[in-house]
Amino acid sequence: MIKTRVTEMLNIQHPILQGGMQWLAKAELVSAVANAGGIGFITAVSFASAAELRAEIHKTRDMTDKPFGVNVSMLPAIMPGDLTETFFDVVCEEGIPVVETAGRNPEPYVSKLKAAGVKLIHKVPAVRFAHKAEAIGADAVIVVGFECGGHPGMDDVPSLIVLPKAARELRIPVIAAGGFCDGASLASALALGAEGVLMGTRFMAAKESPMHDNFKQWMVEAQETDTMVVERSIRNAARIMKNEAAETVARMEAEGATLQDLLPVIAGRVGREAYLSGDINLGTIACGQVVGRIHEIKSAQEIIDEIVNDAEGIIQRLHALVSQ
Ligand SMILES: Cc1cc2nc3c(=O)[nH]c(=O)nc-3n(C[C@H](O)[C@H](O)[C@H](O)COP(=O)(O)O)c2cc1C
Repeated sequence: MIKTRVTEMLNIQHPILQGGMQWLAKAELVSAVANAGGIGFITAVSFASAAELRAEIHKTRDMTDKPFGVNVSMLPAIMPGDLTETFFDVVCEEGIPVVETAGRNPEPYVSKLKAAGVKLIHKVPAVRFAHKAEAIGADAVIVVGFECGGHPGMDDVPSLIVLPKAARELRIPVIAAGGFCDGASLASALALGAEGVLMGTRFMAAKESPMHDNFKQWMVEAQETDTMVVERSIRNAARIMKNEAAETVARMEAEGATLQDLLPVIAGRVGREAYLSGDINLGTIACGQVVGRIHEIKSAQEIIDEIVNDAEGIIQRLHALVSQ
């Protein structure tokens, strides 16, 4: 058993978190991660209303009695209208133990969350934002490296640099994200000062991830060079699958496209259509470089069991290397 301040704080067996994933992090995946001893976050921006989010929370509760959280992503590009405030209301009313926030400073919501006893874990792509999160009262931070699927920020600093720097400078627990997928990477995250890992891409390829098999097949075959970073020109860098939509966005940006021009290609609803139809070239689909290290589609239980067993074995092997 690997115990850290994060497993204690969240009352979970293993220091493994499933990050927010629009359209994918729903009851099936989140409950499977919870039942396997990790913690998953239902992604609020997958829902068009507070009532829909509430219904998904109830559905998840029917599938697990273990703790799970809600991700509230506050990036303007993927928000279907401004539902941020109502999503936080649902989190508080439903007694959700923890939120993962991302995209913007969650300070306006801190007092509401604290009053309801909800732990706040804020996800950031840079050490300076991690300090800010600590200062506003976050209970932990997730630090994402440039390898990550989704939004790596604008500084292009990988996990091997941003993680140990944040872990050294902060007092609150730091959770590693961006490039983690197996026991070796969990062990390395712990060695670098993290108290848990949060994964997106690895769980995107889980059996319980509700996307068309064409995407899963693509992921199993993809190399670490099969993602690209787009949307830098609108200061919203995003690491996504290298597909026709991604190439279109890159070409449009090179030609000086504005956010309005790009929206028909980058809008979240196009991604949903792609996941459902199985058209892997439709829509911009977040995906991390670690896709090049994923070779099999496994259940969340198999993924988590394997990571924990392998990490424990590696830690013991490393310990044995030290001479007395
Ligand atoms: C398909 C996909 C969708 C994502 N959607 C969201 C999202 O809606 N909100 C969010 O905060 N992060 C989102 N992320 C980022 C993940 O929560 C996590 O930070 C990231 O995947 C970690 O890096 P990794 O992909 O190397 O594991 C998404 C990631 C992926 C792969």
